[in-house]
Amino acid sequence: MPRPNAPSVVTTPELGSIYLNAQPHALTISDNLHTTYSFDREGRLLSCFVGGQNYRCGFCGEILLKATLAGGKLRRRLRPDERDDLLEAVHTAVTRLSTGLANYVPAEVHAWLATVLAWDAARHTHDRQTFQTIYKPVSIVPPDQYQAVVVQATEGCSWNRCSFCTFYRDRPFRIKTPTELRTHLHQIKAFLGRGLALRQAVFLGDANALIVPQPRLRELLAVLHDELPSATPGVPRKLYAFLDIFGGEHKTTAQYAELGAAGMRRIYLGLESGDATVFDLLNKPGSPAACIEVVRTIKASGINVGIILLAGPGGATLAHQHVTQSLAALAAMELTAGDLVYVSPLIVPADGPYAQQARALGLVPLDADGLASQLATLKVGAVAATAHRPKVALYHIEEWIY
Ligand SMILES: C[S@@+](CC[C@H](N)C(=O)[O-])C[C@H]1O[C@@H](n2cnc3c(N)ncnc32)[C@H](O)[C@@H]1O
Ligand code: SF4
Repeated sequence: MPRPNAPSVVTTPELGSIYLNAQPHALTISDNLHTTYSFDREGRLLSCFVGGQNYRCGFCGEILLKATLAGGKLRRRLRPDERDDLLEAVHTAVTRLSTGLANYVPAEVHAWLATVLAWDAARHTHDRQTFQTIYKPVSIVPPDQYQAVVVQATEGCSWNRCSFCTFYRDRPFRIKTPTELRTHLHQIKAFLGRGLALRQAVFLGDANALIVPQPRLRELLAVLHDELPSATPGVPRKLYAFLDIFGGEHKTTAQYAELGAAGMRRIYLGLESGDATVFDLLNKPGSPAACIEVVRTIKASGINVGIILLAGPGGATLAHQHVTQSLAALAAMELTAGDLVYVSPLIVPADGPYAQQARALGLVPLDADGLASQLATLKVGAVAATAHRPKVALYHIEEWIY
């Protein structure tokens, strides 16, 4: 008999070999190694591998398909009809597995499967609607934070004018009051239920939560820790957030140290390009030099950073200076082992300000091979840019779903 926490295989004449891995917070079932499903303690489908394709499910109710094709990677959200078909197929498959496994698995696993089966079409629809009452669209978080609980202490982007970024165009920037944040946290806890246990870290949304003046931020973090205490008494839950480069009120090292004591572990900054011409083309606030300065201030407080570079801005025309100056900026930041560098291939919004400006300036865009080659050069160069070898990884904005 399989026990929770011990991966096991059950073989029956009707089902063949079913692999079960019941961890404290997630249940994974593999049907003869052809199809795999993972669920949280609420019975929510987290991800599945069906028909040779990988799917990741968001709390928002959408499903992301990720597949490797001959011509490269496919990443796209399922259409509503495709999503509903997939959810129905999973429900049918789990019904069959639950019946067939009834005499072979412990009561706890059987009860977990019953929780999964409570997710019928009506419940999915209700869940999607509830999500929209709690969250504004959760546009993006850094890849190492895909498993965090997102808490929208602020909404939107205080700048919202970068020429290439459309993430927050649908909402004005605003800071929640402590009362609003408490309500938001109550709603999140009720919504995630036992699924919350899978997510230990908190990502503070939206685009630049750390622009909040320190006294207000202090109040908001107190509410957050009150509502979401960590599993370890006396140790605050780990926090992560974006910061735009000029960072509003320019926090001091002492203020960052205070945030560090309140759980802040890493702050993510979109440098995008170390080259001043490319940076201006992107209409980022601040400057590469200001970004280097902010990074040094943050690191002096003991908090790590995540630096995001774009691959492709300025096209082939400005490629050399973009790469050279971006790697020089990284070197000047003196990153260390706890820091991260991400490289994000630029996805040019059709007819947005970036596309219009690039056209007006006659910039020749990079072709697919040129973009792949710049991405690789930036990744290799970023590792070499400092003696302390921060981790360097791809940041693909189409791979995110919450
Ligand atoms: C929320 S944004 C940046 C956070 C913070 N506001 C800042 O500007 O530093 C996260 C990252 O998404 C990436 N991003 C935004 N729009 C993009 C696009 N169209 N193509 C590729 N990456 C994009 C950028 O690298 C950006 O730094
Ligand atoms: S890149 Fe950052 S600062 Fe610029 S508009 Fe997007 S979220 Fe705002």
